[in-house]
Parts: sequence; C-alpha cells; structure tokens
Amino acid sequence: MRQKAELRKENGVTTLYVDGKPFVALGGELHNSASSSTVWMREKVWPSLRPLHVNSVIATVSWEQIEPEEGVFDFTELDDLIADAGKEGVRLTLIWFGLWKNGTSTYVPEWVKLDRDRYWVCESVSATRIPSPFGDPSNTISPLCQAAVDADARAYARLMKHIGEVDTEGTVIMMQVENEMGLLGSPRDFSSFANARFAEEIPAELAESFGISGTWTEAFGRDAEEYFMAWYYGRAVETIISAGKKEHDILMYVNAWLQQYPDRPGCYPSGCPIAKMIPLWRIAAPGVCLYAPDIYVQDFEKVAAEYSQLENPLFIPETATNINSAASVFLAVCEYNAIGFHPFGIEDIISRDQGVDAAMLAALNISTAAFKNEGSAVYLPASYQVLHSMMHLIIPARGTGHMRGFYHNGFDNGIILEFEEYDVHIAYGPTEQGTPPAGGAVLEVAPNEFYVFGTNFRAWFLPKKGENCHVQFLRIEEGTFEGETWKRGRILNGDEHYVGLPFMPGIMKVKLYKY
Ligand code: DGJ
Repeated sequence: MRQKAELRKENGVTTLYVDGKPFVALGGELHNSASSSTVWMREKVWPSLRPLHVNSVIATVSWEQIEPEEGVFDFTELDDLIADAGKEGVRLTLIWFGLWKNGTSTYVPEWVKLDRDRYWVCESVSATRIPSPFGDPSNTISPLCQAAVDADARAYARLMKHIGEVDTEGTVIMMQVENEMGLLGSPRDFSSFANARFAEEIPAELAESFGISGTWTEAFGRDAEEYFMAWYYGRAVETIISAGKKEHDILMYVNAWLQQYPDRPGCYPSGCPIAKMIPLWRIAAPGVCLYAPDIYVQDFEKVAAEYSQLENPLFIPETATNINSAASVFLAVCEYNAIGFHPFGIEDIISRDQGVDAAMLAALNISTAAFKNEGSAVYLPASYQVLHSMMHLIIPARGTGHMRGFYHNGFDNGIILEFEEYDVHIAYGPTEQGTPPAGGAVLEVAPNEFYVFGTNFRAWFLPKKGENCHVQFLRIEEGTFEGETWKRGRILNGDEHYVGLPFMPGIMKVKLYKY
C-alpha cells in the first residue's frame, strides 16, 4: 500500500503530496458517461489520453451504477477503471455522482427515483423572481430529506470501503463528493418541511462564528435563502463524507458552479459553494478539504484569485478545453499555486467520439466557445510537458516571491512583474485562432538568473522603478530539462538576442547584469 495523498502547508502555501512527493495534478476531467463503460474507456478514452502528458484524470462513479437495487452493489466498471488508470500511470480523482449533479438528482438509482414519498424533492413557488432556464426543483431531491441523505451516505460508505480494499496502489488520490450542488430554478426549497426550518433560528455554530442571531431572514437578510440552502447542502455533504471517511479516509472536496449572470441564486445553484459561501460551508462541512471552482467564465484570473483566498488550495476540476487552457495553466500553477488543473472532456481534444451538445451547454450556462478545441491537442500537452519538467523548481519557489505567473485573458496588453532586483515587463503576443494567448511564468533561481517559460510573449528585464542603471543580458539560452539537469539548446544572440517565447510552449534561461 502506498502512502495516501495529503495536503501539506509549506511557505504558507498548500501542496498536494502523493506517495510522499509533491504532486501538481495536470490532467483533465472525462465526460460524465465515459467511465460507466470499460469498453468505451479502453477503445475511446485511454488511447486519446496517452499523448497528452496528463498525470491526473478525473472520472465519475455513479450511485445508479453501483447500487442498482437497494443494498446490492456492483463495482465491476470501477475496478476496471482503477486497474486501467494504474497501468496508464495516472492518478484518479473520482466524482461521486450521488444525490446531486449540477443541481439535479438524475444519478440516483431507479429505486430512489421511483420512491418520492421516502426521497422527496424540492418545491418552488412561482413568484416574481427571475425564472431560471437552467433547472427545475422538482428534479432535485431536497438536502433536507434526511432519508435520502442517509441512503446516499450508506452507498458512499460502501463505495469507499470497496476502494480501500481494491486500491492497493493508491491510484485514487481524491474524491469529489457530488457535483456542482445547489438548487436550480428556485432560491430555496419551499416544501412545508423546509419552510418550517427556514422560520427557525439559525444554528448555534453559525450564530457563534458569524456573530449574528435570529431567524435566517433576520440573520442574513436578502441572502437568507441562499445561506439556508448552503447550510443544508453542507450538512448533507458532511454526513456523506464522514460515512465515507470511516471506511477509507482520503481527501474529499466539493466543486462549484460559479456565481455569474444571471446573478440570482436559483439561476446559479443556490447553496453551491460559491466563493462567498465558503466560510459557511466550512462550518457546515468540516470534512471538506477544499472548494474547487469549475472555471468556464472569461475572467479566469478573478476566479483563481477568489478560490485561493482563505487558505483554500486552488484545485480546478473543470475548465475550458479550448486553446486558452494551454496558457491559463501557467497562471494557475505559477501565480495561484494550483494543485490541480483539468480541462473538461479532455478526451475530445484528440478524439471526436463524444463532443458537447450546444443545448446541454446552454442548460449549464456555459459558452460553446469553451469547447472549440482547435489547437488544444498540440499546445496543451506541450504546456503540461514544460510544467512537469520544471516542477523541481516550481514547487520550492511557491510562496517565496521568486515566481510569478501570468495569462492574457483578453483585457490587457501585458503586465509588469516585480522581483527583488528586477522588474520584468511582459508584452503579450497576438491572439490568433488555434494558437494560445499569452501565458507563462518567470522564476528567479539565483541572483541575476531566471527561467522564463510559457507561450506567446516577449519579456524585458528592467531596473527596479526609480533605480538609475542599465540592465543587460549576460547570456540567453533555450533548452529543456532532463530530470533536474538543464540541457541547453541554442545560445541566443545577434538577431535572436531577446527573450521571447513562441506559440509552442518552451523554456529560456536568462542571466543578467546591471551597471
Ligand atoms: C459542468 C459539470 O460539472 C460537468 O459535469 C459537465 O456537465 C460540464 N459542465 C459540461 O460542460
């Protein structure tokens, strides 16, 4: 049995450790249905993943599949998935599609679907609220339905017991519990049971931590419905997680559909761990190890910043598979210390067997542009390769001020990155279809010595603001790492005497002097 994955804090930054070594998960999430079939995985998915330089795959395991009859379990596909991932040399994160998947309860087993008396759904009121095009509460089992939460927890506990028994190599490093929870189509559950709870005083733990009191409305005003739902989703998740951890105690996190247009809870899932709900979620569900954003919105950096606050390690289980990811990964890993980065439906960037349906994306409030994958198959693996090869330098640089990452999100023309002895002016290169926007990082390894890596930018080293001196290159090299050894390629001088990374992600070593 290998050492289990854990989160450790160093220099104020959290790092994921796998087998006792730092591990930045650079991979992808598979389409929802892929891992329900071993044949599909072996024929369509694993071959598409092999050229991508991924070390991490996020795949699903659903309640309907593992417990087709109450109390009767079948782990056939899961066992194949774990064994195959081990052979492919990648680590797995498994999504537990239990009671909730993007707000709705479509993954519960038939015996749950057909027993609405025992497993009751949310109710809405037709009101003056913004109608949500994204979901219908009558398809969401209420997080206040204790019988449903307990049934999910029993199945999840059985699942974790099984993983503990079969996963002797430690291939499964993390569990995502449920998927993008929260209620769509209504800001809260208006069932009579929920109405009675909503009229009660807020729980004592919340009153104490937040220094507030009274009913939900008295305590949280206009945000009361969302806080109320977050509390009950959080409590439900805690019940599920603690049942699972008793059987096999590994890292367990939850993910979020982000707060976005139309900005009303119910249009995005109400109660979801959007950034402002994290403090409440932490009280409701202390077993959750981190809160993970699914980033499909244009302002990638704003979300990365929000989800790295409050000491939450940035783990991105889903983001666009379009060409932007080949650049945004540098910002995530080198500026926001991400421990994981996973474009969604990653098998699509090579194979065209699945694809995404425009109507489905509309229902999830995701732009189809996120899945226009032209160029991704070429550039994303190259970005991963650069990052993998530099991890021995990236990991120790985290939290030290010696590394800065950046990404051209379409708003600015460049950025100035500040280091102790130099400022570095990055000018973003052109944005062209099928090639990555600018993205990269600058890493100071010694006085006057830097690595500059990424895609599509030029870099100029400047004296510090207000410093009256010249800065010149002592030497510029391009190259790669073999293990931890720098293997230089060309020495760049003459017409090539500048620091500029082309579209194809790469690395340059720069030595400077001041006079
Ligand atoms: C977000 C969800 O969390 C995923 O399961 C999947 O449905 C994607 N959206 C599709 O884009």
